[in-house]
Amino acid sequence: MKHSLSDIKELIKDRRTIKPEDFKARKVLDDQIKEILNSARWAPTHGKTEPWHFVVFQEEALKDLGKFMAETYKNSVSKEDFFQKKYDKFLNRPSLSSVVIAICMKRQQIEKIPEIEEIAAVACSVQNIHLTATAYGLGGYWSSGQVAYSKEMKSYLNLGEKDLCLGLFYIGYPDIDWPRGQRKTLEYKTEWRK
Ligand SMILES: Cc1cc2nc3c(=O)[nH]c(=O)nc-3n(C[C@H](O)[C@H](O)[C@H](O)COP(=O)(O)O)c2cc1C
Repeated sequence: MKHSLSDIKELIKDRRTIKPEDFKARKVLDDQIKEILNSARWAPTHGKTEPWHFVVFQEEALKDLGKFMAETYKNSVSKEDFFQKKYDKFLNRPSLSSVVIAICMKRQQIEKIPEIEEIAAVACSVQNIHLTATAYGLGGYWSSGQVAYSKEMKSYLNLGEKDLCLGLFYIGYPDIDWPRGQRKTLEYKTEWRK
């Protein structure tokens, strides 16, 4: 065995979504964030395009991100469809986190690799982010949705037309007991052919 299978199995199973409302104020160190992002870089990438791009928000930038998302949400819905609770969530979630990472896919100029594969590569990088955060005992939350996918977000993150924001990844120390996960057993998800 080249690595400890029991360690890696534990880590994979232990990775859990923990939302900013359940974070405590304790700050995540820059060195930890760099370690987390360095893991992200090692995701698989077809054609070695390395399509991931991360925008890291901390401190005052978290407040700005919250305001931007709340206002983008407000401007995207009619008065009847507006929910104050939803607005407040957009506004407050970043500031409840120690760090928020915008998960971006930068499209290669020549578009040799299909877009779906570039998105898949970035998703793999997010798994690396989440697993590394888990190893530190940090909570992580991948949040997607219409605001993340909006053209306003693209411009806020200085992305090009063909680039994508795949969501925001919130990180913080959990203030709750580590949640337990649940998954269907393998029989439901596999078909074996011999
Ligand atoms: C691409 C992607 C987007 C997601 N977006 C959201 C989201 O917008 N809101 C949310 O509550 N959870 C989101 N999640 C997290 C899932 O809700 C979470 O993974 C699921 O509940 C299983 O929990 P676990 O991560 O603890 O295993 C997203 C997950 C993925 C893979």
